[in-house]
Amino acid sequence: MKKHIVLYKKLSPSLMARLHEQAEVTLIESLDTEGLAQLRDALPRAHGLLGASLKLDAELLDLAPDLEAIASVSVGVDNYDIDYLTERRILLSNTPDVLTETTADTGFALILATARRVVELANMVRAGEWQRNLVPAHFGTDVHGKTLGIIGMGRIGEALAQRGHCGFGMPVIYHSHSPKLAVEQRFDAQYRSLNELLQQADFICLTLPLTAETERLIGAEEFALMRPQSIFINISRGKVVDEAALIEALRTGQIRAAGLDVFEREPLNHDSPLLQMDNVVATPHMGSATHETREAMAACAVDNLLAALTGERPANLVNTRAWRG
Ligand code: DGY
Repeated sequence: MKKHIVLYKKLSPSLMARLHEQAEVTLIESLDTEGLAQLRDALPRAHGLLGASLKLDAELLDLAPDLEAIASVSVGVDNYDIDYLTERRILLSNTPDVLTETTADTGFALILATARRVVELANMVRAGEWQRNLVPAHFGTDVHGKTLGIIGMGRIGEALAQRGHCGFGMPVIYHSHSPKLAVEQRFDAQYRSLNELLQQADFICLTLPLTAETERLIGAEEFALMRPQSIFINISRGKVVDEAALIEALRTGQIRAAGLDVFEREPLNHDSPLLQMDNVVATPHMGSATHETREAMAACAVDNLLAALTGERPANLVNTRAWRG
């Protein structure tokens, strides 16, 4: 008998065809109220789930007694209760590697956009306000040669370090739970304590996962250590930052600017004070959002799910303790 897969993300025709060959498939087209009701209806028959951007808590998963595997179309797994999944021996997989370079590109886009005030000045041109040569009040700040500080030296942190070191001649300093000797050798990166990094970096970039340890890692005390010329970049998760403290740091000039792809609550509310600030570039959690990378992530998730449902160990198994082997 074919297994039953519930998708809560639309896939390309070729990936849909692969799933249909192997399984019975239910597609939940959107995660609005109606879609969530359809998901609840489908869960009792589900053996596999594939999707992203949905908090799958125990209350929902308890509706799926036969669930064997979840393939998340994301690298971040903060939407899942890993202990609970492991207890139930549900295999959780994610999509690392395929999005590393694209997400690092997004980080660098935010570095350049904030430092050179790209969005603000482009809006000025669009509004017909470019009437004469720029004056110092319009000037930005250089990126090349400035100190790049990276908090969380995983794959994406390393790809950011490569861009900064090789492309922009930036000294790289980093903080992570352990020193990364290969990164130090390749990019001349230097390890710093968190406080030292906050005090020394011109660009402070968050690339670390959201966990119980990293939640609200950066708050008022940390912003107080930064300098008025510091630019803060977040491409990890909004909840790693105390957003009210960030707003205050921007408001009081404690830091120069922020480039933010992630927020405490997403989608970001239109009346957020962040959107009133010219020195904030806010993007809609678009780190991996290119055609090529999203397709590669979806393909990776399909591989992971089909492997799990045919008794093979998925290449990107997150909760390895759930594997019976
Ligand atoms: C990821 O893959 O974790 C991205 O942030 C999208 O959620």
